Amino acid sequence: MNAKYVYIHTIGCQMNVYDSDRIAMVLKPLGYKATSLLKLADLIIVNTCAIREKAELKFFSFLGRLADMKREKTDLIIGVGGCVAQQEGARIMERMAHVDLVFGTSAIGRLPGLIGQIESERCQIVDIDMSAGIHEFDYGEDEHRNGKVTRFVTIMQGCDNFCSYCVVPYVRGQETSRAPAKILNEIRLLVENGVREVTLLGQNVNSYGQKEGLCSFAKLLAAVNDIDGLLRIRFTTSHPKDLSEDLLLAFKDLEKLCRHIHLPVQSGSNRVLNLMNRKYTRELYLEKVKKLRNLRPDIAITSDIIVGFPGETIRDFEKTLELIKEVKFDGLFAFKYSDRPNAAAARLPDKISEQEKQERLQRVLDQQGHYTTLKNEALVGCVEDILVEGYSKRHRVIDLHNRQPDVQWTGRTSTNKIVNFIQGDGVIPQDEIVAGKMVRIRIAKAFSHSLWGQPVKAELIPFNLDSLIGEKSNVA
Ligand code: 5AD
Ligand code: SF4
Repeated sequence: MNAKYVYIHTIGCQMNVYDSDRIAMVLKPLGYKATSLLKLADLIIVNTCAIREKAELKFFSFLGRLADMKREKTDLIIGVGGCVAQQEGARIMERMAHVDLVFGTSAIGRLPGLIGQIESERCQIVDIDMSAGIHEFDYGEDEHRNGKVTRFVTIMQGCDNFCSYCVVPYVRGQETSRAPAKILNEIRLLVENGVREVTLLGQNVNSYGQKEGLCSFAKLLAAVNDIDGLLRIRFTTSHPKDLSEDLLLAFKDLEKLCRHIHLPVQSGSNRVLNLMNRKYTRELYLEKVKKLRNLRPDIAITSDIIVGFPGETIRDFEKTLELIKEVKFDGLFAFKYSDRPNAAAARLPDKISEQEKQERLQRVLDQQGHYTTLKNEALVGCVEDILVEGYSKRHRVIDLHNRQPDVQWTGRTSTNKIVNFIQGDGVIPQDEIVAGKMVRIRIAKAFSHSLWGQPVKAELIPFNLDSLIGEKSNVA
């Protein structure tokens, strides 16, 4: 079989990153090797995102640019997957005639058959059937070997919450959880292939397994915690209404569970939360934050905010600013509200102008920027355990002291803050720092989006070092 190349373009969330890995995997038996060079591609797959209009526009602009390529290389196959594919179906081909395949969020398992058919019959296909449920993949021995230390693992798909602004329930379907045994096997295989940190993915991980009568999410976490060789566990996303007591306790009891939670609040106004169909109040959210911090005073909390939801008054918006001030998040993702097809809020009156949304967004970003900087600066002088992920973007730098080129590494704290460092004055021999290893770093400088530090110790760090982590410590 001649080598054929597939170029996969991924837009959107971690779920899409995970799906793109599965896409590359199922295409291997057809002879497709993944490439990062667009011009080499025999097959281009665009994995799309529909969460906000901006992501959708980004996809159509990328797809438009592929038309010229297809004219020059007539046997090029172009496939569109993910949330926009699910939402738009055949309409994508009406708009973009050079597309050969539109496949929905549940069709990845059927992809080899669909591509095989297009190769032999040169036809156009739309497959957005969602009735088959979760497709479990058979992993080969080295299926997970791509040199990465951190990986995503989907534990559930879809969502039953129907927040009024959100397209996910329409494009990812009903909430369905994977069996614990499948998830644990997948993680074991990842660990055998060098992965040291997994992020468990679901739209609302707190309700994992409830519909199917599987174990609770907290029990699943405990089982993942028992996997030998795995150093860290993260998860996303939690819905504040479902953040249960046993999950709160997991932050205290499970030594591998990182000290970070992403807990989207969306708004600080009860009136807007109600319109959003979020099913919790500002007070309940603050109560959960308090409980989390009581259990783990050093936990990092990040969140999502939507500004300019239909009918959001200045008073509503100020309540959001007040909440941000009260919680002092470690980081925040803020978005301008965007109408989505099918989502109930698209039919609400009193839409906020683009200019007003932009101004509110900027105020949120400015306010949060202040707290992010303060939080980062508070870490200067602290000793943190960093899981080394690899070389940082600025790969080779000159150490001004000894004028030797030195490799710059990057990793994260348990609280999910990026830390860059160089081997520096040789506390740790160069060959002791490798991706996948925990290194103890004293934080020396704080920037707005990252930290800079110096290694203080080389050996593989034992897990439970709560007494050291996050405190100013004298360990050197
Ligand atoms: N408009 C703006 N932001 C949205 N999000 C989801 N849907 C929309 C929308 N229609 C944001 C929410 C969610 C994050 C993933 O994207 O804050 O938590
Ligand atoms: Fe969308 Fe709400 Fe489900 Fe999150 S919980 S995916 S915001 S509907």
